Amino acid sequence: MSHKALVFPGPGEPFELIERATPKPSTGQVLIKNVTVALNPVDYVIQHLGLWVDYYGYPALAGIDGAGEIVAIGEGVQGWNIGDRVLYEALYDPDTMTFQEYVLSDAAQVAKIPASVSWEGAATVPLGFATAALGLYQEMKPRGGVALTPPWVEGGHNKYAGKAAIVTGGASSVGQYAIQLLKASGFSPIITTASKHNEDYCKSAGATHVIDYHDVPYPELPAAVKKITSEPISVIYDAVATHDAQKAVWQILSPKGKLAVVLPPAVGKAGEASEDEKEVAWVFGSANLFSNYEFGKKMFAGITKLFESGELKPNHFEVIPRGLAGIPDGLTRLAKGVSGVKLVARVAETSGNVGGAGLKEAIPPQLEGLRQVYPVGKLPEF
Ligand SMILES: NC(=O)c1ccc[n+]([C@@H]2O[C@H](COP(=O)([O-])OP(=O)(O)OC[C@H]3O[C@@H](n4cnc5c(N)ncnc54)[C@H](OP(=O)(O)O)[C@@H]3O)[C@@H](O)[C@H]2O)c1
Repeated sequence: MSHKALVFPGPGEPFELIERATPKPSTGQVLIKNVTVALNPVDYVIQHLGLWVDYYGYPALAGIDGAGEIVAIGEGVQGWNIGDRVLYEALYDPDTMTFQEYVLSDAAQVAKIPASVSWEGAATVPLGFATAALGLYQEMKPRGGVALTPPWVEGGHNKYAGKAAIVTGGASSVGQYAIQLLKASGFSPIITTASKHNEDYCKSAGATHVIDYHDVPYPELPAAVKKITSEPISVIYDAVATHDAQKAVWQILSPKGKLAVVLPPAVGKAGEASEDEKEVAWVFGSANLFSNYEFGKKMFAGITKLFESGELKPNHFEVIPRGLAGIPDGLTRLAKGVSGVKLVARVAETSGNVGGAGLKEAIPPQLEGLRQVYPVGKLPEF
């Protein structure tokens, strides 16, 4: 059996649709027929630089977010049935990357999609949610998080009632999930930064105060936050992580406070305390890899209840046209910048020409810097 897959033949080369052999699940794995997949900034980074993929050879795939139905089950898998609706995060391996019709996943690293969540909403969850959750609840280490107790473990829900927190980039996919998780953890006030038109979106996630970063540039953020609260702020999630955003939140962070950043740290030293014992962690958003694997198992098992109860909501989404074939055009849009929306493709709608004109030009030049941060070969192990 074979299936459609969106591949690129070399770093920076245009995407094309090919037929590739459908894999069979090994022990502990399930085969999933994708219904929806979502687009992330890392997808154009992977395609542009060949980041992490060229060790397994070209043509290579991208795609981290997927939602679909279990269609085959490997040996030793318990608790899953054919036809179950699940969401999952790719494992940086060609059989697991999501921009294709069928994928493999470790059965321990998938979450059941509650009936109340649509296929499109479910596809917005895996990487955005995992990146928020790992940054808030993974232990403090150079590639970790700020070590709070997650709301899915006993005693975690509302544990931090009355404590203040900040999330920058509240309208981003990661920022939305970070706000919602901090709310589930009890934090209040939750202060965030976003464009004015996304104020309601951030408030519906649980932000109590939304600062428009166009009116209040990051160097002025510490003064703006002081006007809102004089309480110490010991937890900050920086989902923007530009140098000016990191400098501002580092200044706001109280002594002994902890900061999670989504991009390489420009303040403090990841995993090491500063003079006033502040710490910064650089989040590694793959819940299913290396030292995050055990965390990921518990996280995926805990996700369903949070979404089922309505406490957690998927990101706002927009369905792009032409299924897998429309993804390269979607990535061009994403690279130019979207606002308060996750782009989602319905795999069964795949048709027409593979787009992607202008993708190379749209990719921010500063991403070239990632070539220095990551070796463009095997995934670094954390
Ligand atoms: N470390 C990891 O493992 C990991 C994993 C996932 C993502 N990331 C990184 O995390 C970042 C967010 O990813 P994402 O998928 O959540 O992005 P996204 O949803 O595409 O982000 C778009 C949003 O970013 C907001 N934004 C842009 N500049 C901003 C600023 N200066 N201040 C406040 N908000 C700003 C915009 O808000 P407005 O529309 O309101 O202006 C927009 O809604 C990206 O840099 C991504 O590469 C890292």
